[in-house]
Amino acid sequence: MTDGNYKILISENDLQRRVKELGAQISDDYKGLEPLIVGILRGSSVFLADLARELTINAYFDFMVVTRYGYSESGGKIRFIKDLDRSIEGKDVIIVEDIIDEGVTLYTLKNELLKRKPTSLKICSLLDKPANRSVDLTADYTGFVIEDAFVVGYGMDCKQRYRNVPYVAMMTN
Ligand code: IMP
Ligand code: MG
Repeated sequence: MTDGNYKILISENDLQRRVKELGAQISDDYKGLEPLIVGILRGSSVFLADLARELTINAYFDFMVVTRYGYSESGGKIRFIKDLDRSIEGKDVIIVEDIIDEGVTLYTLKNELLKRKPTSLKICSLLDKPANRSVDLTADYTGFVIEDAFVVGYGMDCKQRYRNVPYVAMMTN
């Protein structure tokens, strides 16, 4: 990041180390299985690309684009801009997300995907901000639990900027 004030919250090294651990843990948990990794675009793209290369099992990939209506008036409404290409019935599905904040996005998505009868459905999120949770949702795999701050980088954006920075930073105005 070359402009604005920011503080690095999670360094590139720490991200890489933790992603390796998550990849090893998922590979171990899914030994003998071939899970379908569902990436939630666009925020999870960088994390997913790194995580994918740490998996030592066969995995399949599909992607969804999900967005929340304007935060203030929306309540629990989320919109599916792009759905999955294939059925997930009978599959071991792992949703990969960048960050869980209120939890509404993943709570709604999880319930929608459960209707499609996967064999199993788990959530892997790089970051978790439990302070703002408004629904009962916990990830099965979490990279880092962070304080309540707006973060960017490693896939996450502020008005579509900073997704490509290799660390996670906190905006400080
Ligand atoms: P939730 O429904 O409040 O859990 O919304 C989660 C979504 O909001 C994430 O997928 C992100 O797209 C976005 N989001 C939440 N917190 C942040 C943040 O600190 N930085 C960037 N995006 C965020
Ligand atoms: Mg998102």
